[in-house]
Amino acid sequence: GDTTSPSPSGRPLEVALEGLRRLEYRGYDSAGVALVGPGQPRVRSAKKSGKLNNLVAEIEAQPLPAATAAIGHTRWATHGGPTDVNAHPHLADDGRLAVIHNGIVENFAALRAELHAEGAVFVSETDTEVAAQLLAREYRRTGDLTAAMAATARRLEGTFTLLAVHVDAPDTVVGARHDSPLVVGLGEGENFLGSDVAAFVSHTKEALELGQDQVVTITPTTVAVSDFDDAPAEGKRFTVDWDAAAAEKGGFASFMDKEIHDQPQAVTDTLLGRSDAQGRLVLDDLRIDESVLRAVDKIIVIACGTAAYAGHVAKYAIEHWCRIPVEVELAHEFRYRDPIVNEKTLVVAISQSGETMDTLMAVRHAREQGAKVLSIVNTNGSTIPRESDAVLYTHAGPEIAVASTKAFLSQITAAYVLGLYLAQLRGNKYADEITALLDELRDMPRKVQTVIERSEYVRATARSMKDADKVLFLGRHVGFPVALEGALKLKELAYIHAEGFAAGELKHGPIALIDAGQPVFVVVPSPRGRDQLHAKVTSNIQEIRARGARTLVIAEDGDDEVRRYADEIFWIPKAPSLMQPLLAVVPLQIFAMELATAKGLDVDQPRNLAKSVTVE
Ligand code: G6P
Repeated sequence: GDTTSPSPSGRPLEVALEGLRRLEYRGYDSAGVALVGPGQPRVRSAKKSGKLNNLVAEIEAQPLPAATAAIGHTRWATHGGPTDVNAHPHLADDGRLAVIHNGIVENFAALRAELHAEGAVFVSETDTEVAAQLLAREYRRTGDLTAAMAATARRLEGTFTLLAVHVDAPDTVVGARHDSPLVVGLGEGENFLGSDVAAFVSHTKEALELGQDQVVTITPTTVAVSDFDDAPAEGKRFTVDWDAAAAEKGGFASFMDKEIHDQPQAVTDTLLGRSDAQGRLVLDDLRIDESVLRAVDKIIVIACGTAAYAGHVAKYAIEHWCRIPVEVELAHEFRYRDPIVNEKTLVVAISQSGETMDTLMAVRHAREQGAKVLSIVNTNGSTIPRESDAVLYTHAGPEIAVASTKAFLSQITAAYVLGLYLAQLRGNKYADEITALLDELRDMPRKVQTVIERSEYVRATARSMKDADKVLFLGRHVGFPVALEGALKLKELAYIHAEGFAAGELKHGPIALIDAGQPVFVVVPSPRGRDQLHAKVTSNIQEIRARGARTLVIAEDGDDEVRRYADEIFWIPKAPSLMQPLLAVVPLQIFAMELATAKGLDVDQPRNLAKSVTVE
């Protein structure tokens, strides 16, 4: 994450560090800041591997001078390991210029050789230092930081957000973006730049969204946008619709715990304002012609991680309601095969951050082939909605913990709204049931709340299992992606080998994994559901139990039959089959969080991960 602020009030360092704290979820293997002030001959900087606290301790031990502008960065290593030297900022021009960077410079080896031949001396292994040296060279050539930034951007291949300060212009910060996020915060007598609005939302809610391939130059009182060819350009104004408190822990032990508790509200907010007085769905922000949507003959959902599992859940509902075939594919796989996509294909891109590079590339790939792209995204002002034909925002509020929770519930909710809307539009047999289904959906937050209130038993079970080294998860139908998500949560948070299977697939292989005492979570469908699903899953439970498994079962209130086969039961309220994932996943989230906590791990920032993966 990048953050910066030029300010007359002498507080740029505090603002930058606070911004970094709010952005730390984006990457946290090292952090650094650089400051400039009037009469300062060299940039002053501090950088440190490890979490932000290491940097803060370093600055407390060796205070930095007052400044007029500061830039700061938290890193998720791509080129060069997470060491102090490789941390950003990187200096150039005899220490008079500092650069921070998100993304990957793909032609860095060639540029490095070119600059080296001209006498540049490199101290780190990073691609960023190449950008810093290049900027220094262009600055010496042009004498203008904005022009130098544009010239640098023209030479870089790959993806980047760059921010730079130079001692010659101590009240100025220059930024550039290409395929990486950067937003401007517009303050009173101070302006800000950040990888997302969380960096500055405690100072201003007025923001400017930058377009692709733009350069921005800010001072305390001015903001100027131009393109990579030095022509003036414009950003798009917007107002952030949540406040800083929403990005605070609010008394919870972790952001993840808070966000799990936010889930009823996240579902409620995602449903708000989606229907008219007659109960018909209205999606005003859809921007795709109704006739185009009526003609859709295939839907492909593209996403990564938890968002992909939300898409997998939605497939069952949309196919059932709309009778349109739905494929779900990981964005990075979709991107590099030869998918069958045309004007009648609706591609649905799901992303909490709206910045996941794999998903963004897949969006572009789909549009190039004539598909309409609708994105389901949580973060306003992010890149994926801007590059889509239409967007459905999830309104879950900021999600800070790296492991996704409330975004998952709100993504399923938004995808269901889309499915019901398509059913309504196409007037098929479920169209009449839409009102009833929407009512069921509106009743889900209350039930999610009930599951959360029952969490103490899940927590106690998790604590008792902190030495588990392998956990399996089973589900059928919509319970299958829930099993996959339960396993992902446990891997991400507790570093335990966990795997989710379709329960029917068990006998085709995975059952060989079961031996005495093996913990297996099973998501049990409603006994009132169709297609004997309940009976099939209860026989799967018996099969694994017969082989010694310890069965941890998620079942609907009143399901007396399942009691006989379960070692532990986590009860969830009754709900229609297609809505059950919104409830069944909650105990699995809480289980993973509590087990990781019992192991002494940081649940908000698990090792090796980043919240928003802006590299491919
Ligand atoms: C990363 C995160 C996951 C997340 C995935 C997709 O891998 O660690 O928690 O599910 O990205 O992120 P998105 O922002 O596109 O939903």
